[in-house]
Amino acid sequence: MITSCFVSENELTEQKVIAAELAQEIRPRGLTFFVETFGCQMNVRDSETVKGWLSMIGYKEAENKESADFILFNTCCVRDHAEKRLMGNIGALKELKDANPGMIIGICGCMMQQEGMAKKLLRRFPHVSLIFGTNVLHRFPEMLRAVLNGDRIAVTDRADDAIAEGLPKLRDNQRSAFVNIMYGCDNYCSYCIVPYVRGHERSRKPEDIREEIANLCESGITEITLLGQNVNSYGNDGTTGMRFADLLRYISDVPGLKRIRFMSSHPKDLNEDVMQTIAALPNVCHHVHLPVQSGNSEILKRMNRKYTREHYLSIIERLRELVPDIEFTTDIIVGFPGETEEAFRDTLSLVEQVGFASAFTFAYSPRQGTTAARMEDQIPEAVKKQRLKALNELQARKTVENNEKYIGFVGEVLVEGCDERGEETMLYGKYQNFKMVYFTGCKELLNRYVTVKVLQSNKNSLLGEMIDA
Ligand code: 5AD
Ligand code: SF4
Repeated sequence: MITSCFVSENELTEQKVIAAELAQEIRPRGLTFFVETFGCQMNVRDSETVKGWLSMIGYKEAENKESADFILFNTCCVRDHAEKRLMGNIGALKELKDANPGMIIGICGCMMQQEGMAKKLLRRFPHVSLIFGTNVLHRFPEMLRAVLNGDRIAVTDRADDAIAEGLPKLRDNQRSAFVNIMYGCDNYCSYCIVPYVRGHERSRKPEDIREEIANLCESGITEITLLGQNVNSYGNDGTTGMRFADLLRYISDVPGLKRIRFMSSHPKDLNEDVMQTIAALPNVCHHVHLPVQSGNSEILKRMNRKYTREHYLSIIERLRELVPDIEFTTDIIVGFPGETEEAFRDTLSLVEQVGFASAFTFAYSPRQGTTAARMEDQIPEAVKKQRLKALNELQARKTVENNEKYIGFVGEVLVEGCDERGEETMLYGKYQNFKMVYFTGCKELLNRYVTVKVLQSNKNSLLGEMIDA
């Protein structure tokens, strides 16, 4: 059993003192920052913490890279070309740095946790002076102070079991927020690098999670998304006294909390209790992002996913029985080592059968250090590409089919954004089950709930009219 270790309050106070000291120097100079985030919601959430620190230290957010005094790339290494792209991005900053020698360029995120990466980057890019990994966000002020004093540093400690509470955050969304419930992953799916870079699974305390949500709701947020690599294994290590379904019940009555979302779910841990809870709690949204990865049980076994095609389908069936208006989205990998034409057809038939509202589809990309990267029967890139195309065509057809079901549907939408098109303002937002709809309205309705009726279904979206604001 892993016992969670929390970053001590003293340690955090020390960092906040450093931040306050730096602010005395930084604030009067009117310096600005620009943070660019790649990858998943986890990284988006981490960037909010870095931005929170930067604000506390006296930096203001810049409009663009060109005008910023501190530039940070938050990187992802889950799939392919990210590394090449990052190298290009960093190389391109040299000119900016030459024009503004006081500029600080930093890189953080999962990719920095990869063996040897941080050192390699420091060597290759003399204009980069700060590199840090995913487990040391609580030490940001100390790291920045060193850099402001002229050091070039890389901090990628594998303080695996550290959970830091009470870090500052700068969130730019007043409607919806991500809330981490756990960090890391212990599942070791054979294709995946996440357990190696984000470390062991550890769950936050329920009280800390509830307090964060209560504060968010007090500030006007009404929708939260609980984040974890596998939210369904929340508390499985026995450290929290609660499992995921208990956590949902425990937070659901926070005043003002209208919508609870969560991601990602792992089919192996999505149990009857969780399903019943989704059905029973009025503010848990009827949407499950349930990555299937493959429709073939043999491939699933080689992926170390620990469920079969049949088990996956049984979850879909049971949830539909309990929650008739539920929608599913998924992640799928094609061209995993050893995937035969027949195995790939099993994926197609599963997609046909389930009818996902949408799917993120990927060609398998070998990640150094993972089991699958060492498997012998790798699939040629051309075949992966071809399969991805076939899968995407099928899913596009299923998305249209799914959309068509909604013509005439009436429901509450949380308004997320607006597009001014000449005279007209197009608003968009989601029903509780994650379906997105566009409709005309005025931008004062942003972040509010309105009732929308679906009139038309397009290829990728629904078009509706507001019937009640
Ligand atoms: N190759 C392709 N896709 C991958 N994913 C994770 N690792 C890989 C890989 N090596 C996909 C999975 C996962 C999503 C976040 O990224 O589908 O669910
Ligand atoms: Fe990667 Fe599997 Fe963990 Fe998801 S559950 S982060 S795919 S190892």
